[in-house]
Amino acid sequence: MSAWLITGAAGFIGANFVRLAAAEGNARLVVLDALTYAGNLENISELIGNGNVEFCRGDICDAGLVSELFAKHRFDRVVHFAAESHVDRSILGAGPFIRTNVEGTAVLLDAARLSWRDRAGAHLFLHVSTDEVFGSLAPEDPPFTEQSPYRPNSPYSASKAAADHLVRAWQHTYGLPAIISNCSNNYGPWQFPEKLIPLMILNAFDGRELPVYGDGLQVRDWLHVEDHCRALLAMLAGGRVGATYVVGGACERTNIDIVRGIVREVDQLRGRPPGTSAKLIRHVADRPGHDRRYAMNAAALQRELGWRPLHSLDTALPVVVRWYWENRAWAERIRSGAYIDYYEQQYGARA
Ligand code: NAD
Ligand code: TYD
Repeated sequence: MSAWLITGAAGFIGANFVRLAAAEGNARLVVLDALTYAGNLENISELIGNGNVEFCRGDICDAGLVSELFAKHRFDRVVHFAAESHVDRSILGAGPFIRTNVEGTAVLLDAARLSWRDRAGAHLFLHVSTDEVFGSLAPEDPPFTEQSPYRPNSPYSASKAAADHLVRAWQHTYGLPAIISNCSNNYGPWQFPEKLIPLMILNAFDGRELPVYGDGLQVRDWLHVEDHCRALLAMLAGGRVGATYVVGGACERTNIDIVRGIVREVDQLRGRPPGTSAKLIRHVADRPGHDRRYAMNAAALQRELGWRPLHSLDTALPVVVRWYWENRAWAERIRSGAYIDYYEQQYGARA
């Protein structure tokens, strides 16, 4: 049976990915996650030890641990999600971003290179990256494609761009079989509530202020997380080795539109008079260096691998708002910090 190393799968996208991949059932999945503030074992707890998913708490920068895992499990696929992922945190301090996103990626690439050098087989390193490496679009610009030049603007996107370049270099120099996926903003269940959509939903539930940066007219291209994960599964099954694929929902929305859509849904769900939660919207100071617009043209992925998004934001957003309502105990454990203890409760003291 195939064995996949999945890094960072106690986080948002990785947790959704492991769910889909475990349901496919044709690989053993080993999750490596350091459980930083963004990692929550609760996101995948019901999958661990249940058949084909195993969890290892550890740091992708730990070269000894990573090479031990390769020796033990003889992975033929790596799906690399682990990262520091929040732009605002990267502005406050870039150190952890350089360490995990750049150094950690180099550690994984080298472990894969050394392990696969001596073993024949269909190996693949799938690097999960972001549209933000391409910088910011003007309103009249066409969406980004696989040919767009790298122009990262934030410490986060610069660290992801550096990781992409390492993947490319390992491929070019050592022949490491790799694919890079650059995806737009995701939304869906289990997203850490520092990101726009879950933050606004949870604040609106509680009647807290909804902080919109600057004029709120920045544009993001929103994709449901399951559609992103299905794109990654399609790349694993039939992607061209050496390729980059851009992934997006062709769903450009301003931030203020997203927030207005959320408050409408929350009012409806909670039976509040229309307009109640809109009063919580506050325009606050803009993010330094804030990228104005991202958009992706996923035509190549659609053409080559037959991928299409199955969710539309207009029908999926109410479902997502409802998910956060029904899982507000999960969100509350994050907000109170109690989720940090979950690992100890399940596995005893942390190493
Ligand atoms: P997340 O912040 O929710 O999760 C990151 C996970 O990585 C956490 O579980 C964390 O514990 C783990 N991690 C962090 N540092 C680690 C380390 N040194 N060793 C091992 N594990 C570590 O992030 P996400 O939103 O799920 O994003 C996953 C990947 O997808 C990232 O690489 C991100 O750049 C990329 N991406 C995200 C989006 C998005 O909209 N969220 C869009 C495109 C691409
Ligand atoms: P975010 O979810 O942090 O994703 P990214 O910065 O990677 O695109 O933010 C999405 C957009 O929402 C971005 O333009 C910043 C904006 N934003 C706010 O206006 N207020 C907030 O409180 C947050 C977290 C984000």
